Amino acid sequence: MALLPILTYPDPRLHTVAKPVQAVDARIRALITDMLETMYDADGIGLAATQVNVHERLVVIDTSQERNQPLVLINPEITWASEEKQVGDEGCLSVPGIYDGVERSTSIKVRALDGDGQSRELAAEGMLAVCIQHEMDHLMGKVFVEYLSPLKRNRIKTKMLKARRDTERV
Ligand code: NI
Repeated sequence: MALLPILTYPDPRLHTVAKPVQAVDARIRALITDMLETMYDADGIGLAATQVNVHERLVVIDTSQERNQPLVLINPEITWASEEKQVGDEGCLSVPGIYDGVERSTSIKVRALDGDGQSRELAAEGMLAVCIQHEMDHLMGKVFVEYLSPLKRNRIKTKMLKARRDTERV
């Protein structure tokens, strides 16, 4: 087990489009273990492989209060999304300290392989539906701040770059 470094916006590698996982093998199972450990350590509710610089279609999620219900989605595809949408505040481990409103479908259905390589279809609503859509955007190289206005996005970019410079100086 190992904590993995998380890429932070505006790192250009966050805009890489992930490729499908070819086989749920020992390498992928080890990656899942490390990604879950990294997500729990960072107090996040979701983490996409893109964020740890692995460009394959894999995300881990846990939206439970108890932090004991890990969900693994490999090669996820949204098979249905409600026309009903809602704006909710989102944050991201790759954009620490920033929260802003994004419009998402309130309910979705998603088909994916689980950590054992079994195909499953899942219906999700509320925070879980939002989280799945957010993480699947990462696999397409999209960070949630790209839904915001250019003005807001530039302000966030400047803030993140300054925070990085301050860290490097220490
Ligand atoms: Ni994120």
